Amino acid sequence: MTIFKKAAFVLLTVCVVSCSPTEKEMKPTNSYANDTHSYAKPNEAVAKHLLLDVEVDFEKEIIKGTATYTIESTNASEIVFDAKNLKIHQTLVDGKEVSFTLGADNPILGQSLTIPITKAAKTVAIRYETTDKTEALQFLNPQQTADKEHPFLLTQGQAILTRTWIPIQDSPQLRLTYVANVKVPKELMAIMSAENPKEKSDNGKYVFNMKQPISPYLIALAVGDLVYKEISPRTGVYAEKSMIDKVHYEFADMEKMVNAAENLYGKYAWDQFDVVVLPPSFPFGGMENPRLTFATPTVIAGDRSLTSLIAHELAHSWSGNLVTNATWNDFWLNEGFTVYFEMRIMEALYGKEYANMLASIGRQDLAEEIENFHDQPEATHLKLNLEGENPDDGMNSIAYDKGYLFLRTLEETVGRDKMDSFLKEYFNKHAFSTMTTEKFITYLNAELLEKNKVQFNVNDWVYKAGIPSNAAKIVSDKFQKVEEAITNWKEGSLNATDLCKKDWNIQQKIHFIRNIPKEISIEKFTALDNACQFSSATNSYIAMVWFEQAINHDYHANNVDMQIENFLMTVGRRWYVSTLYKAFKRNDQLEEAIRIYTKARPNYHSVTVNTIDDMLGYSN
Ligand code: BES
Ligand code: ZN
Repeated sequence: MTIFKKAAFVLLTVCVVSCSPTEKEMKPTNSYANDTHSYAKPNEAVAKHLLLDVEVDFEKEIIKGTATYTIESTNASEIVFDAKNLKIHQTLVDGKEVSFTLGADNPILGQSLTIPITKAAKTVAIRYETTDKTEALQFLNPQQTADKEHPFLLTQGQAILTRTWIPIQDSPQLRLTYVANVKVPKELMAIMSAENPKEKSDNGKYVFNMKQPISPYLIALAVGDLVYKEISPRTGVYAEKSMIDKVHYEFADMEKMVNAAENLYGKYAWDQFDVVVLPPSFPFGGMENPRLTFATPTVIAGDRSLTSLIAHELAHSWSGNLVTNATWNDFWLNEGFTVYFEMRIMEALYGKEYANMLASIGRQDLAEEIENFHDQPEATHLKLNLEGENPDDGMNSIAYDKGYLFLRTLEETVGRDKMDSFLKEYFNKHAFSTMTTEKFITYLNAELLEKNKVQFNVNDWVYKAGIPSNAAKIVSDKFQKVEEAITNWKEGSLNATDLCKKDWNIQQKIHFIRNIPKEISIEKFTALDNACQFSSATNSYIAMVWFEQAINHDYHANNVDMQIENFLMTVGRRWYVSTLYKAFKRNDQLEEAIRIYTKARPNYHSVTVNTIDDMLGYSN
């Protein structure tokens, strides 16, 4: 507890009994959770609106300009922002220059930026520019784009990277509205997590408005030679020219998804739902930037087989963007709810069986993740303690898949109708606010469990390791067929050719590949590849899981080594590439991993680089 917070706590406790007017005046107007990943002291002074005036310089690969905040304070004599690897040129309070202080540089958190204010202060302006250490930004050369003609810029704010491109109070509980004036080269279009243009401007100048308050990690910018294609009046896609039709085809069901989501948990709050498909070095599958989801091109499979990713990012429009984790320790509130909601959207569009296949894949991921953490059981709690750690490192599939399993088990216990009205009311009641794990549990106990006289071991799920014994059983008929085929193939009653003739969908193929027995002979493995041609799979998910198995089985035929290397050289999606580097490492092929990584590393975004550097013990 900081000294101030202690003082405030004492004051509040005293005030319950008696409170003099001066003490009342000094009482903080709001009380925010303690976020160990931000230097901001929002109980003293907090920014409510951002006016961002910036220019993107592709030559120098920097962003330069001014962030002007409208602030609210109690009796504070200073306001504290987060800044990491930024050059701060000047700070002004209500237009008058003041001197600022930058604190010690912490490798995870960056620096505190402290600016003196008076009680009457209304605005604080910070003139700054980014540096080549700015982790949120990735500048791409034309060669790294689809059309190969123009450079590209993308940002990634979650978890604590927004402070590397904007000096900001960077805690997820600190919502703010923003207006941005962004200047880019006139051949390029800029788009943000805000109201967006549908065409390029003549002069490279763009004005953005985000009128609903959002968390800092959701401020996002992409700049490139982009075009827009509408799917419905409120949904559409941005992509480079050579991709736009494929992307439009792939995501044709977007309006149906928004509809299904609204039918479940209430009105879509952000008016527009667009998706931009970025170059392949984007480090995530998707990122739920409000009004404009960022997506990897690896989901453009040609057959709409990987679109659950869109359902997932859309679901964040409720769980995450509307009701937001207060700190990164509560990350499961964002992701666990979102996976649950994602499955419900997919079920509404494509049926129970499809959703159960997706859920089964997640269930296997969860089992594997718990196994990975066998000597670190506290990492398998839903509620985390990431103090002193990079929050990004604590964000594994536990939050997603255990979070999902918790909610699914809850649903099966109370029944779907009760679950749905509970969730609908939860989103409605807490819209545009933040949630801690404790606040959620109190709400759950009162509004779902006690009301319906249901007993549920919430604390086991949230505060204990592993999977509680009451966990729902996830069964997929189509996956059972796959498991039977695996047994028959292993025992010899089914050969590879007949196996490959089976009319399986992508999820079934993924399930099959992931469950190829360890002890299968290299001859059998080769025969399988010859028959099914997995080494030249065009579906990125199939390719990824197959490459992992190829590494596990020390398999080198059918040019698979080249395919793996190409994949790692072009794709920067962290989950994919880390799966493959991890497989190399696990199978005593660290040298091969480092050989490829050394070449591929310059193509990756900093979040992927950080993860893989750590994993391979790489230092440049
Ligand atoms: N919000 C996450 C991405 C993220 C998580 C960024 C943690 C930074 C830190 C996003 O919604 C997500 O979960 N993406 C997944 C896809 C999803 C279908 C599971 C991904 O990127 O693979
Ligand atoms: Zn997510």
